[in-house]
Amino acid sequence: MTESRLTGSRQAVTETYVIREFLKEDIDNVMRINQTCLPENYPSSFFLGLYTHAPKAFLTALANGKIIGYIMCRIERGISSFKRAFPVKKGHIVSVAVLHDYRFRGIGTDLINQGIEGMVSYGAVEFFLEVRKSNAAAVTVYEKLGFEVGRVLKGYYRDGEDAYLMIRQKINASEEADTND
Ligand SMILES: CC(C)(COP(=O)(O)OP(=O)(O)OC[C@H]1O[C@@H](n2cnc3c(N)ncnc32)[C@H](O)[C@@H]1OP(=O)(O)O)[C@@H](O)C(=O)NCCC(=O)NCCS
Repeated sequence: MTESRLTGSRQAVTETYVIREFLKEDIDNVMRINQTCLPENYPSSFFLGLYTHAPKAFLTALANGKIIGYIMCRIERGISSFKRAFPVKKGHIVSVAVLHDYRFRGIGTDLINQGIEGMVSYGAVEFFLEVRKSNAAAVTVYEKLGFEVGRVLKGYYRDGEDAYLMIRQKINASEEADTND
């Protein structure tokens, strides 16, 4: 678990936040944040399935004991987006969100970086996600974390909007966990 200082200008007092692994009792709060922040919503079984699948890559951020953000991920096998015809384990960022009042303080970045570390611990060497073309905030955050647009997924979302498929390789020394298997 990591602890950081919240010092955003919209915050009158300095708070701390922590990022820790998701617990089953977090489910209602995480689902509420998902419904508040994103149009892509899921039944509880979907969240719990991802938790069972990759618990080290399903994280929640808390400030003053309140859940204010989450990230959940899936490990998949596929062909490398960077090396031709090379099979790899890929980490898929399925969903990430931070409550509006807690944005611009690095919490989203921390969640994604720690989610990536969790995925590396399962052997992932590449990471990807889908994001709405109109979601400039998220695209900016991902680009700052080294993701690039791999391609456009035409009509990916139910309402017909296109997605960017954003991709990245494992890069940081802190991500150099076990990648065998
Ligand atoms: C995407 C999201 C998780 C980012 O969370 P956050 O905690 O605000 O992100 P951070 O504070 O770590 O921001 C990281 C960087 O991106 C920048 N950034 C964040 N939001 C931005 C925006 N709306 N416009 C421009 N830049 C933005 C930050 O300024 C920061 O830059 P810096 O490193 O130079 O300071 C948050 O905006 C969110 O929950 N959005 C709704 C849900 C969503 O879209 N999820 C992603 C779906 S794919």
